[in-house]
Amino acid sequence: MFKIFITRKIPDVGIQLLKDKKYDIVVSRFDRTLTSREIIKYAKGVDALLCLLTDKINSEVMDGIGKQLKIIANYAVGVDNIDLEAAKSRGIMVSNTPGILTEAVVEHTVALLFTAVKRIAEADRFTRAGKFNGWEPMLFLGSGVSGKILGIIGLGRIGGEVAKRMRDGFNVRIIYYDQVRNEEIEKSLNIEYFDLETLLKMADFVSIHVPLLPSTRHLIGEQELKLMKPSAYLINTSRGPVVDEKALVEALKNKTIRGAALDVFEFEPKLSSGLAKLNNVVLTPHIASATEETRGKMSEMAAQNIIDVLSGGKPKNIVV
Ligand code: GLV
Ligand code: GLV
Repeated sequence: MFKIFITRKIPDVGIQLLKDKKYDIVVSRFDRTLTSREIIKYAKGVDALLCLLTDKINSEVMDGIGKQLKIIANYAVGVDNIDLEAAKSRGIMVSNTPGILTEAVVEHTVALLFTAVKRIAEADRFTRAGKFNGWEPMLFLGSGVSGKILGIIGLGRIGGEVAKRMRDGFNVRIIYYDQVRNEEIEKSLNIEYFDLETLLKMADFVSIHVPLLPSTRHLIGEQELKLMKPSAYLINTSRGPVVDEKALVEALKNKTIRGAALDVFEFEPKLSSGLAKLNNVVLTPHIASATEETRGKMSEMAAQNIIDVLSGGKPKNIVV
């Protein structure tokens, strides 16, 4: 009988799919992230590991689990928590959950953009604190969105959908930068390509949608922030380390840019010193995909990827 370890409780639908296959399933009984040592301890001897983006799965963990390990099914679209080379060289397949979380992440990105420019979080704190003394002509002036320029960095599924919604819904001009230019998508979405430097200079809002790779770590640092308009906003729902967070704190403090909205952090779950004190940044705790609908589908997809492999095939959502 195939053995599976799930590193933390996830929505039941996926677990049920695995149970229907009569696999021997163990779900971590801890309501927290496991250490590498704990993952090895509980997953030793399993054929499949269902893990989270907070689990660091490196060669040591793979070897600790053992040679029978066939698949690491990540409960996420990003796979930067897994050493893909180590998995490949050991013949372990890695799968992710693409596509199904696009809607949720797009909606969160748009929500963050509006929260930042309309100063909603700040105004909420103000109102709750009993500081609202009546309508004022200059109270919480924010920035409008219509007619502005949105710069998308990384035009994948999520970046492309953010572009569409913002263009169609809010009359925003869309420009993008990606390592690979895609003229077909440019035409079909009616959007324009620019190099990163030009995009940063032109955009009123910059939204990041790249995976975390060695080439995208600190893609946005001090120099890049300086290229942005003082009236511009940065939105990040991708991975924290894509932005040099220390440089961002400085830029927000010095008003190099006007504001930011972040769902991900460089040293997650820690926030860089000074970040939480700033009023011109909106912070959410890595919840862009956190809708009931999406998390259920992620559970199903991760389980199905495991079933595909344990039935002798390849997972639909294979990464390596
Ligand atoms: C979330 O951050 C994911 O990669 O699924
Ligand atoms: C989302 O599904 C993405 O990979 O862009």
